[in-house]
Amino acid sequence: MDESYFDNNANCPMTTQAIRSYIMGCKIGNTSCKTKLAEYGKQLIKEFKSHLANEFSSQSSTYKVIITSGGSESNSTVINNYVYEWKVKRGLTPHFVCSTVEHPSITDYLVKLQRDEVASVSWVKPLPNGKILVEELISVIVPNTACIFLQSVNSETGCVQNLAGLQAHLNVIRKTLNKNVALHVDHVQGFRRIKYPNGVGDTISISLHKIGAPLGIGVLLYKHDIVPLIAGKQNDGKRGGTYNIGAIVSASEVLNTFQYKPMKHYKQYLLNQLSQRFIILPFMKIEALTDKPTLIVFSDEECLPHTLFLSMVLNGKVVCGLIVKEYMFQNNFTIGTGTACSNESQDKSNKLGSMASSSIPDVLKTGFIRISFGSDTNEKLLKRFAKVFNKFDFSN
Ligand SMILES: Cc1ncc(COP(=O)(O)O)c(C=O)c1O
Repeated sequence: MDESYFDNNANCPMTTQAIRSYIMGCKIGNTSCKTKLAEYGKQLIKEFKSHLANEFSSQSSTYKVIITSGGSESNSTVINNYVYEWKVKRGLTPHFVCSTVEHPSITDYLVKLQRDEVASVSWVKPLPNGKILVEELISVIVPNTACIFLQSVNSETGCVQNLAGLQAHLNVIRKTLNKNVALHVDHVQGFRRIKYPNGVGDTISISLHKIGAPLGIGVLLYKHDIVPLIAGKQNDGKRGGTYNIGAIVSASEVLNTFQYKPMKHYKQYLLNQLSQRFIILPFMKIEALTDKPTLIVFSDEECLPHTLFLSMVLNGKVVCGLIVKEYMFQNNFTIGTGTACSNESQDKSNKLGSMASSSIPDVLKTGFIRISFGSDTNEKLLKRFAKVFNKFDFSN
């Protein structure tokens, strides 16, 4: 990956050391075998799990750890658990509450369950900055609500969700109504970016490639017993399949070494550079689109400093996010885009899983682009980025 990578929310590039650990880990082979290396591998797996369990557990709540193939499997395991517990074992139809901006490994699964009448779902839309209101999540709870699904940080805008506030409401419901509504937190975008509120969530998903480990390794933390999605002996019988030991060794290395560098001023620095060509307009301040080149910014002060989510307007028209992304790509800069213009013709349900499901006017959604910073972002690079970005024109 070269230095002009501005899509760190999609994947955090591996360091040379993480790649070395990966190669070393692969030499261990199957940890079920009776070899000296396998003994060593088993010890590393134990340490990896206890590292994460300790990071999330507190005096009042203890988590156990399942190693999965990624955030998607962790999320799907949780949904499968409730379907199994409610529908299969008790013959009851579960109800789920889910924000419309959860990852597709949640939204697509719930859409299928809803369509096939296996479960019912209440969808809660985000505000234009990606925030999900706790009151809205709570207001749709019904007697058969099994679980609420909420990300810790929105993957497109970087908005930090009020998890502690949500858990506090659920604790009150538990105490006063004697009703258990579980909370699943998709912490993939927030891991090591925010200070996680202690003990929040019955289950928590993490994907290690977001902090520089190899692709294909995730974790599911759980407080109460869970039904395996993949049967087998590994992970205390909670997730079968030979351990991906190379990825585990590399992820262990990353867990001990990875730190987000402070990047608070980069967002403003980049916006200052972009203001040489564009009017920078926070979404909440829009009145009408003018002919002046404008960037409409959706991420605000409730969002983390590593992400800018915006739409470009030129000559009074929103520029398709995919075109801007392609232009930047041709000039050696990688950025992300939401569902953008390619999804214009698709039906409403396909907008789930992204900010395309928000109440932002459709015309602005077509322009969505995401610029996310990483550990090698610096002012010099941002200046080069802005120089290219500021030259965008339809004739490019
Ligand atoms: C919020 C969120 N959840 C889940 C996932 C899926 O993780 P994985 O790619 O490890 O399956 C992602 C990946 O982009 C994500 O951003």
